[in-house]
Amino acid sequence: MTSDFIIDYQNRIEQCLAQSLPAEQEEPQRLHSAMRYAVLGAGKRIRPLLVYATGQFFNSALVSLDSSALAVELIHCYSLVHDDLPAMDNDDLRRGKPSCHKAFDDATAMLAGDALQAEAFALLAADTENNLNERVQLLSILGRACGSLGMAGGQAIDLGSVDKTLNLVQLEQMHRLKTGSLIEASILMGAIVGKATPAELAALQEFAALLGLTFQIQDDILDVEGSTEQLGKQQGADTALNKPTYPGILGLEKAKALVEVNYEKVLACLSDFGDRAEQLRQMAKYIIQRQH
Ligand code: IPE
Ligand code: IPE
Ligand code: MG
Ligand code: MG
Ligand code: MG
Repeated sequence: MTSDFIIDYQNRIEQCLAQSLPAEQEEPQRLHSAMRYAVLGAGKRIRPLLVYATGQFFNSALVSLDSSALAVELIHCYSLVHDDLPAMDNDDLRRGKPSCHKAFDDATAMLAGDALQAEAFALLAADTENNLNERVQLLSILGRACGSLGMAGGQAIDLGSVDKTLNLVQLEQMHRLKTGSLIEASILMGAIVGKATPAELAALQEFAALLGLTFQIQDDILDVEGSTEQLGKQQGADTALNKPTYPGILGLEKAKALVEVNYEKVLACLSDFGDRAEQLRQMAKYIIQRQH
């Protein structure tokens, strides 16, 4: 059963997203339609949930977390739109419906991704709920997380690794970058809004980095074990493209065992924090045990 706070946060971010994106009637209509299509209506919203759950750890007001939650989700949605393009993973199905480039066209999907990315930074910069110093830190964290030393870099390694055998160190690095970076940024942004102490920040960073890596290991496992219907995206896509994955390199059983070991380690990062970390523990469980 999904916890109440998760449903509450999902509802909150859904509304924020719907309000923040330009209306479909606004010119250029096709681009705005594609942006709304790529963002609204489905998606687990894990990264915004992590922003809010981290904010709750610091007792921050939800309204001061909305722009960070929105920004990470917009970046994530842009990354999915581009990830599905024929030049990348060439996937026709995303979140249970045709991928953005299938519903529109490749060029519109590229532009929708570009515009979502730009909008994420504009939103953060304009949010007067946080002071200028914090806003600059938030922009910097997010910028680094999606650049060549973060998500885009990880995607480049992913594309460059097709038909190659990576060792475990290389595979881990690829996963930490392509997926871990944005998960980590979500938690760090919540911590910046929450005015974390250096010790809190260090503990949360360790938690976030391992959670991000394990998120992608589980994604690799689901690509093998899930069904297309349940996942809302094509099952077996990694195998079809000969992508390096944890089940591919370790075998399915060892990959699953690693997820379990990492789950314990993720929880251990929060062991000093008692009740205030309860939502973060629940999020770790939700992410690691998810079936889609
Ligand atoms: C899928 O992310 C892409 C990866 C980074 C593995 P999610 O599993 O969070 O996808 P949505 O947002 O719920 O569709
Ligand atoms: C995607 O990894 C990571 C991104 C930065 C989007 P995948 O290619 O494994 O994601 P899915 O399985 O298509 O959602
Ligand atoms: Mg990919
Ligand atoms: Mg993909
Ligand atoms: Mg995948």
